[in-house]
Amino acid sequence: MANSSRTFSDVRNVILSAHKNTGAQDKVGFYDTWAENYEQDVALLDYRAPLLAAECVSSFFRGDREKAAVLDVACGTGLVSAHRCLFGCHVAISDCCKKETYDIVIIVGALSVGQVPLTVIRELWDVTKPGGYVCMTTRGNTDNQEYKAELEQLIRALEEEQKWSRVTVVEVEEWEKAVSEQDSGYIPGAIYLYQKS
Ligand SMILES: C[S@@+](CC[C@H](N)C(=O)[O-])C[C@H]1O[C@@H](n2cnc3c(N)ncnc32)[C@H](O)[C@@H]1O
Repeated sequence: MANSSRTFSDVRNVILSAHKNTGAQDKVGFYDTWAENYEQDVALLDYRAPLLAAECVSSFFRGDREKAAVLDVACGTGLVSAHRCLFGCHVAISDCCKKETYDIVIIVGALSVGQVPLTVIRELWDVTKPGGYVCMTTRGNTDNQEYKAELEQLIRALEEEQKWSRVTVVEVEEWEKAVSEQDSGYIPGAIYLYQKS
């Protein structure tokens, strides 16, 4: 059962401890262990990325919501899917990655340094149906600047290859509360929504 007496300082310590986990297995293991307290902990961080990303997709999606297939990549405890009412459609939590299968592919809170590598971006594109949407988020805090710049470069490269086109990019100043010593107050974040050609 989740521990209801946790504080911001507990959450900060948990997140900073994850910096020691360098490999993908370590990172996934870390999130598995954190799962029990994850949702109440990220509420203390004022982590709104799942809601902001869901709202963003929902406001641009023009397909049939009842029939649309959504893939929530790196879903964690399912906070993005918890906002499926915004999509009004079926959300798949799946490792099955068949080409051109999903109307919406969404990855929230997982594209950042030490987490999911950028090689995933072309895979996200691959499993999206032509005309479907890919929604990605990243953080803009100090230690993620290089990753963010590389992510944007890759997104642009796919745009230049005419594989997708930009629907919107939203820079959010107050993404979530800062936990590292290099940042203070709130850190920024960004949402990228692209439509496959
Ligand atoms: C901060 S959680 C985000 C979960 C959920 N999308 C949300 O917004 O609440 C990061 C997720 O990415 C996954 N993840 C991190 N690094 C990964 C990697 N290298 N390979 C696969 N999954 C990874 C974790 O297991 C976790 O589910």
